[in-house]
Amino acid sequence: MNKPFRRRDLLGIRHLSAEEIIGILNTAENFREINQREIKKVPTLRGKTVINLFFENSTRTRTSFELAAKRLSADAVNISVSSSSVAKGETLIDTAMNLDAMSPDCIVVRHSSAGVPHQLAKVSKAAIINAGDGANEHPTQALLDAMTIRERKGNIAGLEVAIIGDILHSRVARSNIHLLTKLGAKVRVAGPKTLVPDDFAFLVEKNLEVCPNVETAIEGADVVMILRIQSERQNSAFFPTLREYSIHYGLTNERLELARKDAIVLHPGPMNRGIEIASDVADSSRSLILDQVKYGVAVRMAVLYLATGGAASNE
Ligand code: CP
Repeated sequence: MNKPFRRRDLLGIRHLSAEEIIGILNTAENFREINQREIKKVPTLRGKTVINLFFENSTRTRTSFELAAKRLSADAVNISVSSSSVAKGETLIDTAMNLDAMSPDCIVVRHSSAGVPHQLAKVSKAAIINAGDGANEHPTQALLDAMTIRERKGNIAGLEVAIIGDILHSRVARSNIHLLTKLGAKVRVAGPKTLVPDDFAFLVEKNLEVCPNVETAIEGADVVMILRIQSERQNSAFFPTLREYSIHYGLTNERLELARKDAIVLHPGPMNRGIEIASDVADSSRSLILDQVKYGVAVRMAVLYLATGGAASNE
């Protein structure tokens, strides 16, 4: 039987067990149907308060956390860092402690520095949810990716997953590598040598291979996950030009032909069409990019529910 997820904070995938991950995914499955109803609201988190504290831009993560909270009847507050007292020089910890003094149940935080959610978890009485910390982790992204893969493939164990692009700066890659290998998938990574460290396979004990080129990684893959070029985290040139990046590493229909016939394509967004992914691939029937966004709401409903004391589903 699965051990349910009983943690208060969700700081990353790295320290979760396979059973905890499955418990979150199963709980998200139970919430999924609410998002298809005409009235998309249930009273599950009535009286709870969720604060979204985003120090970096976001479309999908912030909106879906807000929708998730509202669809569960929690009060959701979005803090825009540019109009908050952070802009006047208030420290991160002071900001968190002041928010905490207003007794929220959950603080969802995104920050450009790795480890910020972990720091907040030490001083906050509220549950802290990591919505992306620097190049470290983006746990709810990996969970919604897993939900998308499970939906199409039935199971994650035994799948071959190619992750292509800027591995070095990608919190999405790290969280996915932890999650997918814990659930029994084999992961292959590829990209420019400057963005895929040779020793990257140290990250997990097994089932992670660093490939010499994109074609080797994609060959026979069940899932092809394309990453965005993280230009905001690159303070020097890691490849000559975007055009050359696109030629050597971009996902085209021709490269996708190397994958299994029923392979699916994922991208966490935002997409740079014509650079890391060709538009016709992004818009094809093999692309589940909008399904990822759809499942993001159910995953975040599950995470908020569990972080505020709900019980994980074992089924
Ligand atoms: N995938 C993702 O984190 O997207 P946003 O930056 O829009 O939240």
